[in-house]
Amino acid sequence: MSADITSLQKETRKFKPSAAFAKQAHIQSPAEYQKLYRESIHSPRSFWPRMAKELAWFKPWKRLHEWEEPFAKWFIGGQLNVSYNCLDRHLTGSRRNKAAIVWEGEPAGPGKPGEERVLTYTDLHREVCLFANVLKRNGIVKGDRIIIYMPLVPEAAIAMLACARIGATHSVVFGGFSAQALIDRIHDCGAKMVITADGGYRRGSVIPLKKNVDEALKQCAGVKRVIVLRRANNDIHIEEGRDVWWHRELEYVTADCPAEHLDSEHPLYILYTSGSTGKPKGVLHTTAGYLLGAYLTTKYVFDLKEEDTFWCTADIGWVTGHSYTVYGALANGATTVLYEGAPNWPEPDRFWRIIDKYKVTIFYTAPTAIRAFMRWGDDWVTKHDLSSLRLLGSVGEPINPEAWMWYYNVIGKKRCPIVDTWWQTETGSILITTLPGAMSTKPGSAGLPFFGVDPVVVNKEGKELPANVGGYLIIRKPWPSIMRTIYGDPERFKRQYFSEIPHVYFTGDGCRRDKDGYFWIVGRIDDVLNVAGHRIGTAEVESAIVSHPKVAEAAVVGRPDSLKGQALVAFVTPKQGTVVTPELKEELRSHIGVQIGSIAKPDDIRFTDALPKTRSGKIMRRLLKEIAAGGDVKGDTTTLEDLNVLAKLRADED
Ligand code: WT7
Repeated sequence: MSADITSLQKETRKFKPSAAFAKQAHIQSPAEYQKLYRESIHSPRSFWPRMAKELAWFKPWKRLHEWEEPFAKWFIGGQLNVSYNCLDRHLTGSRRNKAAIVWEGEPAGPGKPGEERVLTYTDLHREVCLFANVLKRNGIVKGDRIIIYMPLVPEAAIAMLACARIGATHSVVFGGFSAQALIDRIHDCGAKMVITADGGYRRGSVIPLKKNVDEALKQCAGVKRVIVLRRANNDIHIEEGRDVWWHRELEYVTADCPAEHLDSEHPLYILYTSGSTGKPKGVLHTTAGYLLGAYLTTKYVFDLKEEDTFWCTADIGWVTGHSYTVYGALANGATTVLYEGAPNWPEPDRFWRIIDKYKVTIFYTAPTAIRAFMRWGDDWVTKHDLSSLRLLGSVGEPINPEAWMWYYNVIGKKRCPIVDTWWQTETGSILITTLPGAMSTKPGSAGLPFFGVDPVVVNKEGKELPANVGGYLIIRKPWPSIMRTIYGDPERFKRQYFSEIPHVYFTGDGCRRDKDGYFWIVGRIDDVLNVAGHRIGTAEVESAIVSHPKVAEAAVVGRPDSLKGQALVAFVTPKQGTVVTPELKEELRSHIGVQIGSIAKPDDIRFTDALPKTRSGKIMRRLLKEIAAGGDVKGDTTTLEDLNVLAKLRADED
């Protein structure tokens, strides 16, 4: 069987940054990028020391890196502290009174403003020092693991930074996850403490976070202490001897807490990936390499300047929230926006209101959100002034050109470059992207490798493929922010990422590279289908379907087919107000035929109000596959956002 993936996308549009944008950018031309990129690959010993100097070190490192396959180490022998780099070093100059965190709370009435809080760097430093002392007072020492299970309030970032300050390893569990998800993660990382809140807001109702923690802790004897932030004022149970209130603890401590001097390879955090099969993987990131990756990509990919207001909409429960909302932004001394709630609460224009209110300049979100905005209609956008925006970003899945164009035209008003950033929880920071002042963008392509990243598209034997032939995306050499291991399971780490193709990092994504060297991700390899001998990326077919004017969202999966190996089944959500007629199926099939060719025409098209998604917005194709095959859904559904979607999908079957 050929390992190649037939890539059918025909997108040819190209968008150059304006001369005005390029002129003010950190990196201003393809030549400037090429020069730095080549240096980063061919002379890492001159490139990385210069970059690493932009961080604050307590003790200089001795050796640049070491790779005992599959384990990488960077900046060996150095000492530093992530919290010091995000806070203390900004306190000596004019940044000390600059807004570090601008926070907007969810509750708001239609047309009425939400709660807001602004913490300057001085404020944030004080709060982090106080809370770090609270952690110590409650028995936490360097090396302990702490679960953070909180709404997106400033205290969530404060908790992360306080852990980093004293060398405790945090593991943030997204506030939308269940008690069961908490149990698995607490057991896996051996956490001693949980930091939570009474409740968090989501679309006007209160999520009972503390109640979920109580439920989970019935099965987690290792957790000796729970610190509870008062947020939603809902009734909760306080377990004497185990649970303490955040605000009460603050009364016992001072704000004097020097940052620990930590080794470059000290574990900063463990983050569990949603993992579509098997038990979740605890991705471990350490201190120096991770921080440098988050710092540098925030600076160059988002072209960050002193005056910017940066809003990455990801919750801190995801890696994007770690690397960009919190660590990357603060390490650069930027102003970062945090918003607690949903994009359509109380109305579908909440994001645009927030951009207008705080004059956000850089906005970073996910394609799934962009498609939702398209579906809700342009009127929600156009009634707000978005002229403060200067740069847009996308992350999480391949962005279909249709959504890209809408983002560019309606949100960016054709003024703002879009950076489509490819990376993974495992990679720690952005690896493939355009640099907004230096390169043209092509809708649907992530772009070129970031400094120090050496990606290649190969076949199953590991042989590099020529331009425009689809294959597997691998990374040849480790980069500073690569995950160090799967916590507690180095064997699985090796098996999962360094075995499929020997001696390289296996991303699990299908990809092709065009003649300009741009990478086009076609989706996870698990989502690549083999239809009549052609391996087809589901993302491409989905993108073609969504380019039809009546379609809001689509997911394509395979169903076993005796003739073709696999047949394509498409689940389609029509745009609001679309009348679903029997002709629409045929219309879509011929549309796909025109867009990519007959081979990609689905055998079956099913219309549905909503698709099953994880709470981070990824479509759970595994569940759709089971439905498409006509069977029951047997797999794990704990990460599914809305269980009703499944029941509805089944009821819709003809
Ligand atoms: C997978 C990683 C990285 C933070 C959010 C997701 C897909 C991510 C892109 C992009 C095409 C993308 C890949 C990757 N992905 N960004 N710009 N273009 N695909 O993190 O949950 O670890 O998922 O998301 O398939 O492997 P994650």
